[in-house]
Amino acid sequence: MGFELPPYPYDLLDPYRALANQHSGGVVDLSVGTPCDPPPEEAVRALVESDSERGYPSSIGSEEFRKSCQEWVKRVFRVGLDAEKNIAACIGTKEFVVSTPNYLHLRNPEKDTVLYPEISYPSYAMGAHLAGCRAVPVKVDEGGKLLLEDLDPDDINRSLMLWVNYPSNPTGAVADLAPIADWGRSHNVPIFSDECYSQFVWGRKPSTVLSSGLPGVVAVHSLSKRSNLAGIRAGFYAGDEDLVFWLKEVRKHSGKMIPGPVQAAASLAYSDDQHVEKQKLRYRERLEFLQSCLKSLGVESELPQGSFYLWVWSGQDGSWDLVERLASEVGILVAPGSFFGSSNHVRIAAVQTLEKLELIQNRLDS
Ligand SMILES: Cc1ncc(COP(=O)(O)O)c(C=O)c1O
Repeated sequence: MGFELPPYPYDLLDPYRALANQHSGGVVDLSVGTPCDPPPEEAVRALVESDSERGYPSSIGSEEFRKSCQEWVKRVFRVGLDAEKNIAACIGTKEFVVSTPNYLHLRNPEKDTVLYPEISYPSYAMGAHLAGCRAVPVKVDEGGKLLLEDLDPDDINRSLMLWVNYPSNPTGAVADLAPIADWGRSHNVPIFSDECYSQFVWGRKPSTVLSSGLPGVVAVHSLSKRSNLAGIRAGFYAGDEDLVFWLKEVRKHSGKMIPGPVQAAASLAYSDDQHVEKQKLRYRERLEFLQSCLKSLGVESELPQGSFYLWVWSGQDGSWDLVERLASEVGILVAPGSFFGSSNHVRIAAVQTLEKLELIQNRLDS
């Protein structure tokens, strides 16, 4: 039998959206982590003014784009990269997450396994399935640390890669990436570190797997969340010269290209960090506001160490119950933890303006 596609998770929310919409003012949608705030103006302007729309863009990314990524990595993480050998473009990062297992499997057909955190962004497992590979979850402890010591040696030997994601979507956990990189090197498992929320941390510095040295590791970065540019689809991957070389060559053959005007916009976005600092403050304020709304409903939550999600305990097997309760009582739409591997949490994304979130407070007060 061929591969049977599961339903797309967010399509399952339609009945709860309808329920939440019955509130005056409509649904407050906190389900998908899609930004609502303005991107940097000069980046948006570059989309029409770059004069780069006529010819084919470079698949690995223009020199300007890769240099901008290189300088950003140096500025934010203090890691030096070679813009020719260590960096290449991707079309947003979901396509990279989902297509990379297939490309690694083509190169290394005797390996057929993708390791990923048991509570995580669902596309890590989907990429394995779409490559005809095995998706093997790695247990995580309460603090979000991967329990690599619990893995079966056979699974390790068969692994093409291990995905990690800190700050985590959905839990907001952060972790020291150096021991994971060391584990990968000593077990011959490439570590792919999805770092799309890296700058959304409070009271600590952004971190990258690249700080532990480049051999055996690839960091994956996106402008979608960092710069509120999810609509233009831009990101990059960086790290191990050999892995980057294979991926950029195979992606070139596959016609994967970021449009030229998008590359121009992305270069500008990576050259500025001030807009990210502003965005961090917005998310913090909203997370605190949402936490207090939940408290009024008798639902306890903790602020995340990073990212912009509240990961809220919903009670044993209570994920969908809490989704329904929040939709019917205050008109908010949230994602059940089952989308991410836990049936006793919900994930609440701080992706509506404070004005919109105030609808929740009004409903609580009425
Ligand atoms: C952990 C994680 N990785 C990757 C992505 C994909 O982002 P994009 O494809 O917009 O770069 C998301 C989006 O929600 C995410 O949460």
